[in-house]
Amino acid sequence: MSSVKQLLSAAAELGTEAAADGPLLLAHVLGRDRSWLYAWPEYRLDANKQKQYKSLLQRRLSGEPLAYLTGHKEFWSLDLQVTPATLIPRPETELLVETALALHSQETAKVLDLGTGSGAIALALASERPQWQITATDISGAALEVATENARRHKLGNIQFLHSHWFDSLDTHRRYDLILSNPPYVAENDPHLLENGLPHEPVTALTAGTDGLDDLRRIIGAASDHLAPGGWLLVEHGLDQALPLQQLFEDAGFDNIKTVRDLEHRDRVTLGCYSRTP
Ligand SMILES: C[S@@+](CC[C@H](N)C(=O)[O-])C[C@H]1O[C@@H](n2cnc3c(N)ncnc32)[C@H](O)[C@@H]1O
Repeated sequence: MSSVKQLLSAAAELGTEAAADGPLLLAHVLGRDRSWLYAWPEYRLDANKQKQYKSLLQRRLSGEPLAYLTGHKEFWSLDLQVTPATLIPRPETELLVETALALHSQETAKVLDLGTGSGAIALALASERPQWQITATDISGAALEVATENARRHKLGNIQFLHSHWFDSLDTHRRYDLILSNPPYVAENDPHLLENGLPHEPVTALTAGTDGLDDLRRIIGAASDHLAPGGWLLVEHGLDQALPLQQLFEDAGFDNIKTVRDLEHRDRVTLGCYSRTP
């Protein structure tokens, strides 16, 4: 039986990835947090736990994302459950949440999150604005189950989850003040799809046609039918997609169109206001 200290030293010898993620996987297997490992370096794992840890570390070194191995990912200070049915929420998506919160300061709002995945965006908004009425949709029933469970665990009762192909199953009379989406936006043949754990994530959460814009075209084209007068549509997108998206917003009758950059000055979120009345 090996001790915590011996297993961590062995992981460190396997390279920087194992040195960084070995402690997280060991803490996960033991049901402790990382600081516990350093407080109890001589603790000896039983054979079963040791086998579990070694198998997870091996899978991590073969490229499986850490979040799928532990089943958790933090987003907007919320611990979210994730499974291979959901995209792993990215820190970049917090910019979409921040932009929406800054845009609409009223206490009440009707808000739609299209393609909610683990529920990251909807839950972050619901936690900040308990009075907002949020609808969160996805085409994946398995993802919606995870999102619903995340909302239950965080006691966020102001989100309604709905199985829908983009706007198709929504009540046509309901108008939203804000529509947000982080849809699939990677081109089908993008070589990045083979890197950074992406082969383990659901392809339906990542790709959208030959230029990556198929879903964004559909969302931008149909959003005005679901926005209240003066309502906003905000979408996350790829770094080189701001210009074609601004054009799509303009063609769809939006005004006040702008693109927001992340801390590294990369185009990330484009938004526009729909002022025309139906
Ligand atoms: C990039 S992921 C974003 C997930 C989550 N909002 C986030 O930011 O972590 C895109 C999501 O859109 C969903 N999706 C893909 N096609 C869809 C469609 N036609 N209608 C509704 N949702 C769709 C996927 O299942 C996936 O959960």
